[in-house]
Amino acid sequence: MPCPVTTDVALAAAVIRRGGIVAVPTETVYGLGGNALDRNAVARIFAAKQRPTFDPLIVHVPDFAAVSAVASEISEPAERLARRFWPGPLTIVLPKQAAISELVTSGLPTVGVRVPRHPLMQELLTQSGCPIAAPSANRFGRLSPTRVEHVLDQLGDVIDLVLDGGPCTVGVESTIVKIEGETATVLRPGGLSIDELQTVIPDVRLATTESPTAPEAPGMLPQHYAPRTEIVIAEGELPRPPSGIRWGLLTLTPCHAAGYAVHRVLSDEGDLIVAAARFFETLHELDRSSLQRIVAVPFPNTGLGIALNDRLRRAATK
Ligand code: TXA
Ligand code: MG
Repeated sequence: MPCPVTTDVALAAAVIRRGGIVAVPTETVYGLGGNALDRNAVARIFAAKQRPTFDPLIVHVPDFAAVSAVASEISEPAERLARRFWPGPLTIVLPKQAAISELVTSGLPTVGVRVPRHPLMQELLTQSGCPIAAPSANRFGRLSPTRVEHVLDQLGDVIDLVLDGGPCTVGVESTIVKIEGETATVLRPGGLSIDELQTVIPDVRLATTESPTAPEAPGMLPQHYAPRTEIVIAEGELPRPPSGIRWGLLTLTPCHAAGYAVHRVLSDEGDLIVAAARFFETLHELDRSSLQRIVAVPFPNTGLGIALNDRLRRAATK
């Protein structure tokens, strides 16, 4: 039986307060939320997603003032970032408060903290009166949900409620950063671009899966965000589908694509913000289109294109 879907924030807050797990809208992707201070609720989140416990959860709070309930300290550069980009698609890794259990942080001494911008999620955080731990509301390793129907498809039968906030406007997960001194290391590129981060902290580094900092981003497995259909990145010339075989194509801008059963263009103008907002929903749609393969052309490696290429590479890794 699929769970109920509501726009009633008071109802969702009541479910969270009594230890339930609720799919919640944020501007990046839908999250699967529960009271971050309630171990049973947190354990249910891991179970529902079939998520390994070495992959820590992000904790959401309503505003900067509420950070002190979940993090024991915030450095001056981290505070500058928070004040500039919160509420928004940014997660900052901070030393955790004792109240946050090691189940939430997978045993790490740090916690990922985010103040989301979505008005319904803001309202929910205020009304539930507790920090909300929420990973993306998909089964582990699968495509992130940017619409209610994506959540229902993957988790509808194992969660208590969906709070319907409409389609997500940013469409890729938050950018995760860790601050050391005056250096910001991006553990996961996401909805806030590196250029924007650099306006506040000029020294921004990107931790790649190959780099020595990789173990600091647990859960950032090379294979992730995968549709069921095989996905292949077209690095050079576009491959031509064998005749009689249904291949789908995903490109940023329109191009000539002979022989493809389906071709989805993310933005006629090549706008990476528009493309990000449509990225996961388009992959969900292609995944439902009875294709033998999805071919994707990489994005320009600038702005949100960095986050989109990261998701594509992980989806294509077998
Ligand atoms: O946009 C988003 O970030 C969404 C919405 C719901 O907020 N959430 C999300 O959560 O994408 P999730 O669980 O799919 O990804 C969280 C990732 C973990 O896989 C891990 O790599 C990183 O955040 N993370 C969380 N806590 C961390 C910590 N203490 N240190 C390093 N990385 C951490
Ligand atoms: Mg996720």
